[in-house]
This record gives sequence, structure tokens and C-alpha cells, in this order.
Amino acid sequence: VPCATGRPALCEPGAAANGKGTLLSGERRLHFAETGDAIHHHIGVSCFADHAVVSRRSVVKIDPDVPLDQAALFGCAVLTGVGAVLNTAAVPAGSRVAVIGLGGVGLAALLAARVAGAERIVAVDVQPAKLALAKDLGATDAFDARDADCAAALRAATSGGVDFAFEMAGSQAAMKLAYDITRRGGTTVTAGLPPPSAALALPLVSLVAEERTVKGSYIGSSVPRRDVPRFLSLFRRGLLPVDRLMSGHVPLDDINVALDRLAAGEVVRQIVSFS
Ligand SMILES: NC(=O)c1ccc[n+]([C@@H]2O[C@H](COP(=O)([O-])OP(=O)(O)OC[C@H]3O[C@@H](n4cnc5c(N)ncnc54)[C@H](O)[C@@H]3O)[C@@H](O)[C@H]2O)c1
Repeated sequence: VPCATGRPALCEPGAAANGKGTLLSGERRLHFAETGDAIHHHIGVSCFADHAVVSRRSVVKIDPDVPLDQAALFGCAVLTGVGAVLNTAAVPAGSRVAVIGLGGVGLAALLAARVAGAERIVAVDVQPAKLALAKDLGATDAFDARDADCAAALRAATSGGVDFAFEMAGSQAAMKLAYDITRRGGTTVTAGLPPPSAALALPLVSLVAEERTVKGSYIGSSVPRRDVPRFLSLFRRGLLPVDRLMSGHVPLDDINVALDRLAAGEVVRQIVSFS
């Protein structure tokens, strides 16, 4: 049903296959060489290899002249962050926007807010280096979420809050901040994936009397066959410089080091290469 109604991000067979660690067909195509035991696929791919068998329904064809290390960015972070802004929220030109959490997803959202013509783009993180990078990428304001008066200062700087706040950190604290800095009539979008037990109590009177909207955004509410080429075209025209999110290339042998760097927040996106 989600596919037929134009919402493939909510694909039910896809979610079931992801939960089981299989391809869309229900099969697994990876095996341990020694024992022959099957290996699970992670979200339908498992592509830490130079070739991969995937379902043809999971594939989007791109121009062969796009360098593959750049194309790799469009699979998750860009689709999720850019899609949250252009699809889920459909941010109109002139809006005031805040992005909370400036990893690959949040910074892609920030770049998309520029594409949409947002008038104010407020960047929020807990790491000064991320705030500096966000400013470099076009944020008009930057706030450190660790400051006790962050919400109040941000509301004051934006005359009552932003029209659209994007929670891209994956934490309850970030979502609370996102709601607190959304202005009357505004929309709070969350794409972060906190642990399943995370919950948030909302002041219901503000939801009603301020006509607020709270929206979840999964894979940027995207239609990959439409959006990957669309976002790649923005990139190739210089309007969406997502290559600025690349922190470097790492050989597969160093993948654990690369994941530690990511967990420590030292990097945005690293490309695993085989040569
Ligand atoms: N909705 C989807 O379809 C989808 C897809 C991909 C990733 N995600 C989720 O989106 C989130 C972001 O992904 P990412 O790869 O950019 O992660 P990341 O770890 O690279 O970036 C997260 C950023 O949030 C910052 N942060 C942490 N706590 C914060 C707080 N309280 N306030 C402000 N900033 C805070 C971190 O310093 C970091 O810069 C994750 O939760 C991830 O699981 C969702």
C-alpha cells in the first residue's frame, strides 16, 4: 500500500526484510566462506564489498560519470536530511529554520534549507566544531545546546522561535529543544532515531492553542527513484554541496577506527574504500 500511494519510505515488505536481515525477496546472499553459514543483510544491502547482490526494486540508476564516493552520500544522509526539508516539511522560501544535530543528516538538511530559500538557518549542536562547519555551510546563527539558556536565547534571536525545527540528533533532549524553539503555528520535524524506549511528554495546550504540528520523517519521506536523481542534479549544479560533508576516505581494514571517530563526533561522513 505505501508504494501504491507514493510513500515507498514506509514500505511494509521492506521494513519486514530489514527486521529479518534479508533482501526484499526474503533471501540472504552472503555466506561465511569457511562454514557456509548465511550472513544477515543490513537494511537490504550489506555493501562493505566491491560487489553486492541487491533486489532490483532497491536500486536507483545514476549517471556513470558521478564519482562513486560522492554518489555514496546520497544513499542515507542526503536522502534523509534533504528529504526532511524538501519533502516532509516542504519548507517555503523565507522561512525561519533550525536544525538540531549537525551530523551527516542534519548538515544535509541545513544545505537543503538554503536550497529552499530559508531566510534564517539556525544550527544547534553540542560540539563547537560542528557549529563552525555549519556556519561555513551557510547557517545564519549557531547555538550550543549545552547552554542552559539555549532555547530562550534562540527564541529571542528569532522573534519567538522558528517556523520549522528539525530534530536530527536522535535524542529526547534534542526533540524537547526542537519543540521548545518552534514558534506558534510552526512545525517540528523529527528524523532522529533514539532508542525505542525514548518518549516525550508534550504540553498539549500549546499543540492546540498554538496550532503546532509534529511530524516524523523517515528516509526523508522520499521516493528514491525520483529523489536520488533530483538531489544529484542539485549537487551537480553546485546548489547542494554535499561533498563538503566528506571527512575523508578510509580503507576497509580501518573500519573500526572509522566507526570510533564517528561515535566520538569527530567526523561527518567517511568513505570506506577498497584500494
Ligand atoms: N529518519 C531516518 O530515516 C533516519 C535515517 C538515517 C539516520 N537517522 C537518524 O538521524 C540521526 C542523525 O544521524 P547522523 O548520521 O547525522 O548522526 P551523527 O551521530 O553523525 O550526528 C548527530 C549529531 O547530533 C549532535 N547531538 C547529539 N546530542 C545533541 C543534543 N542534545 N542537541 C544537539 N545536538 C546533539 C551530535 O553532536 C552530532 O553532531 C541519528 O539518530 C540517526 O539514527 C534517521
